[in-house]
Amino acid sequence: MSTPVQRLLENNRSWAAERLAEDPQFFSRLASLQTPGFLWIGCSDSRVPANEITGTQPGEIFVQRNVANLVVHTDVNLLAVLEYAVNFLKVRDVIVVGHYGCGGIAAALTHQNMGILNKWLRHIKDVYRFHEEELLALPEGRERQDRLVELNVEEQVFNLAKTSIIQRAWQREQRPNLHGWVYGLNDGILKPLLELPAGSPIDGIYRYEFDDLQ
Ligand code: CO
Repeated sequence: MSTPVQRLLENNRSWAAERLAEDPQFFSRLASLQTPGFLWIGCSDSRVPANEITGTQPGEIFVQRNVANLVVHTDVNLLAVLEYAVNFLKVRDVIVVGHYGCGGIAAALTHQNMGILNKWLRHIKDVYRFHEEELLALPEGRERQDRLVELNVEEQVFNLAKTSIIQRAWQREQRPNLHGWVYGLNDGILKPLLELPAGSPIDGIYRYEFDDLQ
């Protein structure tokens, strides 16, 4: 009997063998180069795997996932991923993907003390505060949670547009386009919520000017 972790390794052997049987160059091609066209910023939730739900293969999507798909401008991890994807991999599209039934969003709507998670969920409480009137008009529970999931995705797309990484790329190369999507755990469908094409106007005070030396 294999342990659950051993099972992962066994599955991996079968998977690798199947890939090779289908395409003998599969690994040698990927090992030499990755040219993903997309950066995916999604939730860590195990039910929302980027490649699987988009029918894409290894090599096609660069991925950053965290609890509740946040774009926090002091998160060095996120910023390093964004910088690499935009300026080195030259992705054409950055997609923030939230999902209905998100535990992080649900937790942020409560008063529960969750230790260090409080610091992360605080960003969602801020999104709630921006939209409190609209949210309070909805019935407490699932409906309010789902709307906050959508508003949170939109806010994170705006957070991307506020970064100098995105603004510089927009000015110089007219890419990447920013997208906000939400995924339904119940039906497996990705729903587009908003798109900010490269070069979209930046909200007043958040706009940076660049000179050629930067
Ligand atoms: Co989630």
